[in-house]
Amino acid sequence: MFKIRAAVVAIAAALAAGSAGATTLRLVCGSSGIDQNSCESAAKAWAQKTGNQVEFVSMPNNSSEALALYEQLLSSGSDKLDVLQIDTVWPGILAGQLVDLKPYLKDRIADYFPSAIANDTVGGKLVAVPWYIDTGMLYYRKDLLEKYHMKVPASWEELTATARKIQDAERAAGDEKMWGYVWQGRAYEGLTCDALEWVSSYNGGSIIDAQGHVTIDNPGAAKALETASKWVGTITPKAVLNYGEEEARGVFQSGDAVFMRNWPYVWSIANKDGSPVKGKIGVAPLPKGGADGQQAAALGGWHLAVSRYSPNPKLAADLVLYLSSAEVEKQRAVDASFNPTIPSLYKDKDVLKANPFMADMLPTFSTAVARPSTVAGTKYNQVSNQFWNAAHDVLSGSAGASAALARLAASLQRLAPNGEWH
Ligand code: GLC
Repeated sequence: MFKIRAAVVAIAAALAAGSAGATTLRLVCGSSGIDQNSCESAAKAWAQKTGNQVEFVSMPNNSSEALALYEQLLSSGSDKLDVLQIDTVWPGILAGQLVDLKPYLKDRIADYFPSAIANDTVGGKLVAVPWYIDTGMLYYRKDLLEKYHMKVPASWEELTATARKIQDAERAAGDEKMWGYVWQGRAYEGLTCDALEWVSSYNGGSIIDAQGHVTIDNPGAAKALETASKWVGTITPKAVLNYGEEEARGVFQSGDAVFMRNWPYVWSIANKDGSPVKGKIGVAPLPKGGADGQQAAALGGWHLAVSRYSPNPKLAADLVLYLSSAEVEKQRAVDASFNPTIPSLYKDKDVLKANPFMADMLPTFSTAVARPSTVAGTKYNQVSNQFWNAAHDVLSGSAGASAALARLAASLQRLAPNGEWH
């Protein structure tokens, strides 16, 4: 009897000692597609290895809402977040609230895309570690293009005609839910990406150029928005005005759209067992704006950061280092199509087998269109907000493109600190 009691006391003491050393970190995981599962399982592996614990905070899949949540928590100095995922356009906005990760990452800095490291360096501080990179892509239904003997469209004009033809023919054959083209039209950061791609594809620039000139009021940009506004209600459901990435994926993955604009993560989830479009999808660069236009893909991606208010910054940095290791980035690329931020992984045969398109994506990262987040710094979200609202007004028919862009340009000029963005 005594022996059993002694053993129970000894086990209880051992457990207490074990848990006394364990720390719980709070990690924000994304929620689009299978991001959450993949992020949580990687973090659990770290917890297991180090004897610590991780609690998960789920992030809204609308990045504008995620930013609002972070700003609210961080501005109050909350210790409720240790490790955060931040969007590629936020380092300038959140730098003051984040820990410098350079002393932790040390020599590993050289493993990542230099442009991504430059993006995350604010005032000499490395405020985040690049976790995955993405660019806008055109998804299409291979089976439907083959059925109608149509090519992957090279221009928006071709896309409009092909989408219309297949949509009409499929509807006439009884598939009344079929649409030509789905994308992100809600008034949020995702629309900034889509609209910037249209504008840039018609040689209309990138809102504010790197020298700080507000360039958005130009004929190419107006043509781009006019073209997109004509899709709404014809080849695109009107509900697109409230679509984010996941809503567009829902329609395409159910088999109800010929084309979709989205990010690489959709590849993996739309090709999983049980997906109605498994094996029927192709991906291509987004089309050019007319014969004189260019292909343009917005540059996106997410980065891992440590909150300045974390009670355990050293341990939080260790979790960041683990999650952004080549091993975990490879796993996430294979399982969930998240493009690695470590260039050497683009030669990895498992990564390329799971995502044949990734080899072609590598050179596009240097030509992709960056949003004006560096030049706008702390004011980027206001710039983006004004741009997506102007685009949304044109798409919904409440404003004409030229007038909306002239108003936007004047307003962005007023927003510039001391009247200048440079
Ligand atoms: C994707 C991109 C991100 C962008 C967002 C917009 O998550 O990675 O950079 O801001 O989409 O919805």
